[in-house]
Amino acid sequence: MLYERVQPLLFKLDAERAHEEVCGLLALLDALPGGAIALGALTGAHETGWMSGLSRELFGLRFPNPIGLAAGFDKDGRLSRVLPALGFGFIEIGSVTLEPQPGNPRPRLFRVPESEALLNRMGFNGEGARAVARRLAAREKCPVPLGVNLGLNKDAAPAQAPAAYARAMRILSAHGDYFVVNVSSPNTPGLRDLQKSRELAAILEAVGEANAARKPVLVKLSPDLSPEDFDEGVAVAERLAQGLVVSNTTISREGVDPRWASEPGGLSGAPLRERALALVRRARGRTSLPIVGCGGVAGPGDARAMLEAGADLVELYTGLVYGGPRAVREILLALSREPTLFDGRR
Ligand SMILES: Cc1cc2nc3c(=O)[nH]c(=O)nc-3n(C[C@H](O)[C@H](O)[C@H](O)COP(=O)(O)O)c2cc1C
Repeated sequence: MLYERVQPLLFKLDAERAHEEVCGLLALLDALPGGAIALGALTGAHETGWMSGLSRELFGLRFPNPIGLAAGFDKDGRLSRVLPALGFGFIEIGSVTLEPQPGNPRPRLFRVPESEALLNRMGFNGEGARAVARRLAAREKCPVPLGVNLGLNKDAAPAQAPAAYARAMRILSAHGDYFVVNVSSPNTPGLRDLQKSRELAAILEAVGEANAARKPVLVKLSPDLSPEDFDEGVAVAERLAQGLVVSNTTISREGVDPRWASEPGGLSGAPLRERALALVRRARGRTSLPIVGCGGVAGPGDARAMLEAGADLVELYTGLVYGGPRAVREILLALSREPTLFDGRR
């Protein structure tokens, strides 16, 4: 398999540089007529994307399968044509902030290979809402549902947050199929405080007003909330949003070598798996809203566990870095052999 040969070379590079190389190649394929088809054929994913029995209907959108790419991989929406060729049933771009910003100084992305984890403190580097809207407007529509994840600029005061999210929503509203209010990144100081009931409600009300086309809006919650705060977040989402993404990266360093304890950032991948699963289960016990389960999914067993815990859709990022496109393909093949997994579901 191609990725098995390429991965050792990529892993010799700094993690962000490797990501840039991969994205450069994907951008080339994205721009090339037939590039997406070629990538699908090369990775063997072309036969899995629309596999029968896996499609779901959620918040008025048809998802060809329940496995999506999590936010952070394609921050500025450059790859929305080619990424579905890896088999993904949906793509979430972003986080997109209202204004462009450079993010934190490098290095800001680290591999923790012995734990199949990543640690990142990217800090919402991106071109900003207007540039992303222009790009998406000029492109062919993404062939699968496209989520746009909204973040907050580092220099925005908490009191400005509702207006900032709402303005980004207004600018991008025509270009996404669903939106995610991200108040859970650990890399923007103060952001996670916006998960408190009053603050979150104010943001969701402002975003709701800006959302003239009534696109589905989801809330992405942190795995580091206390049980009470998590439940409050779920309750506010139940009242003012159409779904949940559970969850984001964690500030916990459980499951990785102690040398990472003093390295700031959010941890993703295998060490997050059990926590994310438990939170999906907890959320499912408290709401009937659609839930996107995210955290530590790397193979068929993890995806199945997320769906059994109550997720309607599943996202991954770190699993793709360690497993390559084959991870997506293997998950889809395994799920397609278990049609009863979806019995009684949407
Ligand atoms: C390098 C990197 C950048 C990320 N950037 C974002 C982001 O901008 N917005 C967001 O909501 N989540 C972001 N995430 C979090 C992922 O979307 C996901 O919630 C988290 O990584 C857990 O999933 P995983 O274990 O499958 O990676 C990022 C993750 C990584 C590894």
